[in-house]
Amino acid sequence: MIYIRPSRYTKEFLDKEARFSLCVMDASFRKQMAYLGSVSGRNENKIAKAGLTPVYADGTVYFAEAKLVLVCTKLYVSELKESGFLYREIIDKNYPLRDYHTMYVGRIEKVLARDDEYLG
Ligand SMILES: Cc1cc2nc3c(=O)[nH]c(=O)nc-3n(C[C@H](O)[C@H](O)[C@H](O)COP(=O)(O)O)c2cc1C
Repeated sequence: MIYIRPSRYTKEFLDKEARFSLCVMDASFRKQMAYLGSVSGRNENKIAKAGLTPVYADGTVYFAEAKLVLVCTKLYVSELKESGFLYREIIDKNYPLRDYHTMYVGRIEKVLARDDEYLG
């Protein structure tokens, strides 16, 4: 299950494609991950800038450097609703723009593990 805000460039791909991937990186990629989480791919090729290698396979894309990849098929998509929040302060603190996340539930089709780094 993942949650994406409407403003994310990532969301355009999630909505267009039947599949998505989740990549787990090891601690040596901490800096690159912080970078990916702070700038938008809409404005620059942040993947290339971070030195990551996209692999197009299994109906989605993931990073060659990932130690673990979950290849998922979207099963259920739904926007979080304001009426669902039980505490007003959660809305005020996290959603001043009322831009509620969209939830995606995926079925894990495949798990890829790097034997050199993950199992070894
Ligand atoms: C540790 C971390 C976790 C994040 N998790 C999410 C998340 O689950 N959902 C989301 O919408 N944004 C999340 N973000 C924010 C996005 O990664 C950030 O807005 C990014 O610039 C979006 O890039 P994009 O426009 O290329 O999709 C996270 C950021 C960090 C640093």
